[in-house]
Amino acid sequence: MKPTPTDAAPVQAKFAAARVELAAALIERDIEVDLALTALVAGEHLLLVSPPGCAKSLLLDSLLAWTGGTKFSVLLTKFSVPEEVFGPVSLAGLKADRYVRVTAGKLPEADYAFLDEVFKASSAILNTLLRVLNERTFDAGDGVARAVPLKLCVAASNEWPCPETGRELAAVFDRFLVRKAVAPIRSAAGRSRLLWSRDHAPKLTASISPAEVDLARAAARAVPWSVEAKEAFEAVLKELAREGVRPGDRRQFKTVGVVRAYAWLSGDEVVMPEHLEAAAHTLWDDPAEQPGVAARVIGRVANPVGMRVTQLLVEVEELVAATDTRDLAAAAKAAAKLGEVQRQLASLKGGGRLEAARAHVREQLRRLRLASIEAV
Ligand SMILES: Nc1ncnc2c1ncn2[C@@H]1O[C@H](COP(=O)(O)OP(=O)(O)OP(=O)(O)O)[C@@H](O)[C@H]1O
Ligand SMILES: [Mg+2]
Repeated sequence: MKPTPTDAAPVQAKFAAARVELAAALIERDIEVDLALTALVAGEHLLLVSPPGCAKSLLLDSLLAWTGGTKFSVLLTKFSVPEEVFGPVSLAGLKADRYVRVTAGKLPEADYAFLDEVFKASSAILNTLLRVLNERTFDAGDGVARAVPLKLCVAASNEWPCPETGRELAAVFDRFLVRKAVAPIRSAAGRSRLLWSRDHAPKLTASISPAEVDLARAAARAVPWSVEAKEAFEAVLKELAREGVRPGDRRQFKTVGVVRAYAWLSGDEVVMPEHLEAAAHTLWDDPAEQPGVAARVIGRVANPVGMRVTQLLVEVEELVAATDTRDLAAAAKAAAKLGEVQRQLASLKGGGRLEAARAHVREQLRRLRLASIEAV
């Protein structure tokens, strides 16, 4: 039976609460939080890449602490052996001339997996991983590919795989539909929070069971695409192709589900063009330049509020960092620019992030004025 929106309403409320709690604890990680929850709802694997110490583990561990079910977590190195990920070969089996793995406590039995430094893995691991991630099956050695319970695999890495490093690596990279580079903290206010708050770990008030995740998935699958959103998506693909970005057919098709999941997570009953914001993290292949092209094209064609908010906040941060408040003329110019940003934010319609952005700009303006008064 198709779940009605009301069936899933309490689950949707739980997702909304987790979204707020995660984003409140993690500094400047709103987009990553949204993507992690979207990936969970869409059932598509997520990869985060950044220099060390950008809170990838903190976010992904927190996400998996929130979900119930069986978890498997591993830090991969080039010395990791398949046994660590898929389980040791059964000795009893060997005695009976059978080669089978004992998978208890390992990836083939997990509902959720966190693969840290995934691209460090050897080809023996990567090859088997491909099947588990894509077909969601595992052959323990007896030639039978059995379904695995895996609902979501999240992964982290300090670098993108380089294209020349081999077929397995490229293939595993492609199995992560949602991929994002995580940047170090940008704003001065964020840095001061990082330095002076003792504990950054999110406090999540509830947890989510595998059955609730299934309910969320069914509800998200039932969210229809509006005609405008469909047109915008097709226009985005066309425009991307013109700019040389041609994500494969599987990637394009799966993006439809990711955008639906994002709309559901945002509490909307129909997919609107602004939900295409999520597709900026799925519709590219080469991490060198294409993510920027995807974001720009989606920003232009679908005009999502979230992207404009992010862009305006970056502008504000650059402006604040570059302004010497003792120089009254410069401070006045900066205040005028902040006023303009404030007007732009006021004209946008949207939820929590927009409100937080408005408050942030108000606060920056207040500080700027205060500093200028003190300088006189
Ligand atoms: N944006 C942030 N918000 C909150 N805490 C942060 C943030 N960035 C870093 N930290 C702090 O730094 C710690 C280190 O982050 P974490 O270990 O999650 O980074 P990582 O990206 O997984 O690094 P690595 O690539 O080395 O595994 C966090 O536990 C947290 O205390
Ligand atoms: Mg880490």
